[in-house]
Amino acid sequence: MPGYLVEDTRKVTTHRLMEMKEQGKKIAMLTAYDYTTAQIVDAAGVDIILVGDSASNVMAGNHTTLPITLDQMIYHARSVARAVKRALVVCDMPFGTYQVNATEGVRNAIRIMQETGCDALKLEGGVEIIETVRRILEAGIPVMAHLGLTPQSINKFGTYAVRAREEAEAAKLLSDARLLDEAGCFGLVVEKIPAALTQKVANTIHIPVIGIGGGPADGQVLVIDDMLGKNKDFTPKFLRRYADLHTIMTDAIGNYVRDVKSGDFPNENERY
Ligand code: KIV
Repeated sequence: MPGYLVEDTRKVTTHRLMEMKEQGKKIAMLTAYDYTTAQIVDAAGVDIILVGDSASNVMAGNHTTLPITLDQMIYHARSVARAVKRALVVCDMPFGTYQVNATEGVRNAIRIMQETGCDALKLEGGVEIIETVRRILEAGIPVMAHLGLTPQSINKFGTYAVRAREEAEAAKLLSDARLLDEAGCFGLVVEKIPAALTQKVANTIHIPVIGIGGGPADGQVLVIDDMLGKNKDFTPKFLRRYADLHTIMTDAIGNYVRDVKSGDFPNENERY
């Protein structure tokens, strides 16, 4: 596989992620929603590519993840899965597709797997959805869990503030994490919780814990548009920006507009 930034170009499996945790090797996870971006993310050595329902925000401009539909997630996941050779591709089950009951959850899970070619699914929640998680696992589909700030429940929380600062919520999160580990999930995302709680969870359960705004863990995940600096207005404390794509893209597009308007583009070499 030429062009890869990592030496080990074998396909990442859930089994290898578990080994990475055992060996203390950190896991890099990042979102992608389209084919060309997923090719770049894969070649750069990201271990898990998440087709996140954050597509609702960054692709479609919605304020929350709630409006994105199953069909829309399938479109994004299929585009990403087609591009990826090395990373494990995980697709978020969108809001409303697994909360009604376990049977509906399994049916929608199977549909995503059949129609996208992705490797695993991610669901938000703990004890409330454990029966559905078990049934999806029984169908042979690897499941990644998501606790802490679970954006599909934003209307219940009322705010995007840090979760589980209070003892009772922290205890429930730890108990949910144990339950999901025992059920057979292969990984757990913890979003916006205190770093000490993340450490406790990671030390308690056997599966890799991936943090976003949760401090050090077995791995980290970010939304690609955020870490590339496409959106100037989203500046949470946990976010590290690795590029300023907003400026780079604005300059490039501005130059294109200038060249078209001046007649400089296309030149002699740029025509047939
Ligand atoms: O949808 C998403 O991008 C996510 C990450 C924030 C973990 O769930």
